[in-house]
Amino acid sequence: MKEKLQKVFSHHHGTRDALIPILQEIQGEFGYLPPEAMDAAARFCRISPVEVFGVATFYAQFKFDPVGRNSIMVCQGTACHVMGGARILEEVMNQLQVKPGQTTQDGRFTLETVACIGACALAPAMFVNKDTHGRMKPEKIAEILNGAGN
Ligand code: FES
Repeated sequence: MKEKLQKVFSHHHGTRDALIPILQEIQGEFGYLPPEAMDAAARFCRISPVEVFGVATFYAQFKFDPVGRNSIMVCQGTACHVMGGARILEEVMNQLQVKPGQTTQDGRFTLETVACIGACALAPAMFVNKDTHGRMKPEKIAEILNGAGN
């Protein structure tokens, strides 16, 4: 972790202004903001760890828990909702035994909801990593999840 952080810090000035780009890069490296990395960012920018945490929690883009190896996003936008998106979400939750925002115990999947990513013609839609799965039906979910990486 130290080396990765040093790499991030090496192209920033240790000032408060650099905090958000630094946190974005840390998340880019680790997939989330590990507490030790936030402490190191606080020391580097010469601000308190509490303040760093406050800034990070203000922005929805930052995650505080490790993310799964596969990202599952189930659309709950209007078009998908009308076409049964809630049932798709419910079935994914059942199969993975997690709620949106959570990661499965084996670290394989993180489930999230989104409010439309422009695939409304394919409603209801879900996304596994970069793949779009449209016109979803609950009975297709197991196969799609099985096909995701380990
Ligand atoms: S509402 Fe789901 S992709 Fe637009």
